[in-house]
This record gives sequence, C-alpha cells and structure tokens, in this order.
Amino acid sequence: MDKHITERLRMNDLHTRIVSADEAASWIQDGMTLGLSGFTRAGDAKAVPTSLVERAKTETFKVNIFTGASLGFDLDKLMAEAGIINKRLPFQADPSMRKKINDGNLYFVDQHLSHTAELIRSEVLDPIDYAIIEAVAITEEGLIIPATSVGNSSIFIEKARNVIIELNLAQPAELEGLHDIYSLNEQGKRGPIMLTSVNERIGEIGIPVDPAKIKGIVITKSLDSSSTIVPPDEETAQMAAHLITFFREEVKAGRLTNELAPLQSGIGSIANAVLHGLIDSEFENLEVYSEVLQDAVFDLFDHGKIRFASACSITLSEEKMNEVYANLEKYRDKLILRPQEISNHPELIRRLGLLSINTALEADIYGNINSTHVSGTKMMNGIGGSGDFARNCRTAIFVTKSTAKNGTISSIVPFASHVDHTEHDVDILVTEQGYADLRGLAPRERALVIIHNCAHPMYKEQLLQYFEEASLRGGQTPHILEKAFSWHTRLADQGTMLEKQFSFSL
Ligand code: COA
Repeated sequence: MDKHITERLRMNDLHTRIVSADEAASWIQDGMTLGLSGFTRAGDAKAVPTSLVERAKTETFKVNIFTGASLGFDLDKLMAEAGIINKRLPFQADPSMRKKINDGNLYFVDQHLSHTAELIRSEVLDPIDYAIIEAVAITEEGLIIPATSVGNSSIFIEKARNVIIELNLAQPAELEGLHDIYSLNEQGKRGPIMLTSVNERIGEIGIPVDPAKIKGIVITKSLDSSSTIVPPDEETAQMAAHLITFFREEVKAGRLTNELAPLQSGIGSIANAVLHGLIDSEFENLEVYSEVLQDAVFDLFDHGKIRFASACSITLSEEKMNEVYANLEKYRDKLILRPQEISNHPELIRRLGLLSINTALEADIYGNINSTHVSGTKMMNGIGGSGDFARNCRTAIFVTKSTAKNGTISSIVPFASHVDHTEHDVDILVTEQGYADLRGLAPRERALVIIHNCAHPMYKEQLLQYFEEASLRGGQTPHILEKAFSWHTRLADQGTMLEKQFSFSL
C-alpha cells in the first residue's frame, strides 16, 4: 500500500476498508440523515457528498444534512441544486442554497451552533445514519484526527450508526496534535468543564471511535476551498478605529489592560477587517477564543500581537492558506482546535470574559440586532455562533456599515425586521460613523446615542423624527407600530428607505 496512506492510516485493521467515494455514496438511502464534517468551508467531507450529487443525476432521493457550519467545495450549492436535501442545519452561507431556502424548496433550521450537539446527544434530532468526516490521520489506537475544523465531527462520530472517513492526504499531516477533543456527558450528569484559560488542553488529540462503526475509508487529496471574504476597505478601517477607541476608553477606565480580554470575532469581511485593525494598535499579547480563525488572526500572529488562539475551524483566503500551511510549525504551539460546543460553550464564554465582535445586517434604534433575515423574511446565512457569544460574553459588540446597497438601505432602522439578538444582549454598536456604548442605558437613552453616533447622516433626521413622534405616544420602548416597518415597505415599493422629504441630504 502507498506509503503516504500507511503513514496516515495507522490502525492496520482498517486497511481493508478503503473504498471509492462512489461506493461509499451508494450506501446512502433516501430519507437518511447525514452528519458531515465541515465548518465555514474548512475540513469538510468533500468526495462522498460530491458522489452523492452525481448519483442524483439518475436517481431521486432526499437526505437531511447536518454539519458544523457552512461547507466549501460548492457542496451546499451542488446539493441544493441537485434537489437532494430535505432538511439542512445548523448554518449555511451559499447564495444558491439561500435561494432554495427562501423559495421554500428545502427546510433550513437556523440554530445556535453550540446547540446542535446537545440536540443530537439528547436524541431530539433525527439519529445520524452516516457520519462522513474528513481526517488527516487515524492513529494506531483508532483516534480520528480531524483536519482544519472540528465543528460537530466528534458528536457525529459518537452518535452515528455508521462512520465514513475521508482521509485527505492533501491536508497537512502537521495538523495532528492541534486538536483538543473533549466530549460532554448528558445534561444533568455533567460536571464543570475544567477549562480556565484559552490555551488549556482538556481532551484528546483525536476523536475516539468504535472501529466496528467505520464502514469505509475514502482516500482524497484536495485542500479546502478558500474563504470569500473581501479585503478591508475605508469604511471597515473606520469601524476598526472606532472599536479601538472604545477599547482605549475601557483601558482608561481600568476595566481592561492593553492585553484586552480573549477576543471572539465572527465570520465575514467586516469582522475580519475590524480585527485586522488591531495590527497597528498598542494592544498586544492578545488571546483569541473564537469559532473561526480568519486571515486577520494569522496577520496578527505575524505581527507578534497574538499569544494564543483557540477556535473550532481555520478558514483562510487562498494566499493565506498557502502561507499558513507551509509554515504550520510556526503556529502549532499557539493554536488549538476544539469541538464547536466547546468553542461556543456559554459556561466558558462567561468564565473567560470574552470581548465578542459579530456582524449585524441591521440594528434598530433600541439596539435589537438582525443578523440573519433580509427585510425580515429572506434568510442570509444564519445566526451561527453569534448568539452563543453575544448572550454570554463580557462585552457584546456588533458591527455593521451604516448603510447597504449604495445607501438605499439604512442599517439603523426604527424596528429591526427580525431579531436575533435582543437589546439585552447588545452592549456596543459600531458603524463607520462611530460607536454607541449602550451599557446601562434605558431604551430612550439608547435611541439617541445610536442615532447620533451610528446612523448615516442622510438617515439621521428621519430616525430622529420617528423617535420623537414615537416618544409622544409613550412607552418604555416608544414605537409607532403602524410605521415601524414603513422603512422596509418603502424599500420594497420605492427601492429606498429614504423618505422623499429627506432626500435633499443625499
Ligand atoms: N439589508 C439587506 N442587505 C444587507 C444589509 C441590510 N440591512 N446589510 C448588509 N447587506 C448585504 C450587503 O449589501 C452584502 O450584499 P452582497 O453580498 O450582495 O454584496 C451582504 O449583505 C453581506 O454584507 P457585508 O456588508 O459584505 O458583510 P459581511 O460579509 O461581513 O456579512 C453578515 C455580514 C451579517 C451577513 C454575516 O456576518 C453573517 O452571516 N452573520 C451571522 C452569523 C454570525 O455572526 N456568525 C459569527 C459567529 S462566530
């Protein structure tokens, strides 16, 4: 057998279980539930799902697809377009899948990312027929060494009836040793999770499995798809500058030091750009306790700003991926990858006291945040881990540009058209205009700070008029219910949220 395979497939008994991706895909039957590895395009099972899509050309079937988060390799797109998905959870970020979801062609369960494992463990969700997991190695003892993400792979392997491993020879073998796999007992029979600092290890380097459950091993050789984030721009640089001003104020007030507190940063271009802004700041010796590590974290490493980073996946642009994987040794003792229920666990987020930075689509004048539903109905990506972090962290920071789509949309609206994070879970709102510190403020105070500090100048008067009129009606959180969504209906009818009488300010 090929030496490259035997070096990585070290449990000799498993050599006879090597099969082709097509053969493994042929075992999957209509109505089954599959648990696929993969988290924001990293460490996804690539070959078997691709064969499954191929099978759909001659056969009609549907399966439920559970993952860690979004998939690379266009898998969500291909599976959605092939019409093979009945239900998808807990997250996706693909435009074609988004369209199928919004057209009502497949069910999407938008779930807090720390919840999926609990729901599988407690048998609330359908049992997993096949876990299909990418690995970089299987050890002599039979530990499955995941690749660039852990996501939900450990709970899938633990609970699935059958396991298929995609042993990926292209993913760096040096990933072995990076993971810390810790599994939880049932709720009610569980002690504290003994993790008290970002760099602690509490588990094993791989996922234990009953070898009898491994039905097949598929050998693959493809790197992850690269991330789709766009580089920082002028507005995101301004947002980063405002965030840094806020951090400086916290240091001045004695609530933080220049080492800050462990940082969590969400997905997407804005979160990446904002984190990137820390490179030229005085903050140093930083720690990251996050869900995804995007390019900015490695740029911060390279500038000597970060001392340790823990997450459940690494999602990089093509250029950064080549650079990081060619020099993995440089980062190895400063990185840990954990299961997503540990990276996103409320107990740990609260204990470590994170500064959490996540992105909003829109915020309302009282600080309720919509991160998922465009104009209140159309799914964008999903809540992801933003709720896990916002509800439990030290300081919940939300960032958004003050307008979208060339200014026709104000990201600050009278009433959020969908609420993912309530005003109670939102401490700081940042746009390129400035930041609003909402801590300790009552709704009427919050509204004025948000409008003055965060709204785009062309929408300020319009927002103030709404707030003043609403305040005359009274209430703890004043609203004019018949006008609360008028901004969204105007956008649908006239292509802009801006009222004609205010358009002079354009
Ligand atoms: N209404 C309609 N569309 C809006 C909008 C609004 N209020 N605000 C932004 N958009 C559009 C943008 O125009 C852009 O559209 P395009 O793709 O056609 O260019 C798109 O939404 C993405 O926005 P962008 O400003 O580029 O931000 P982003 O790439 O940072 O993504 C979210 C922002 C909110 C979509 C993304 O961060 C997300 O899905 N968050 C929820 C999950 C999460 O926070 N996970 C992290 C937990 S660790």
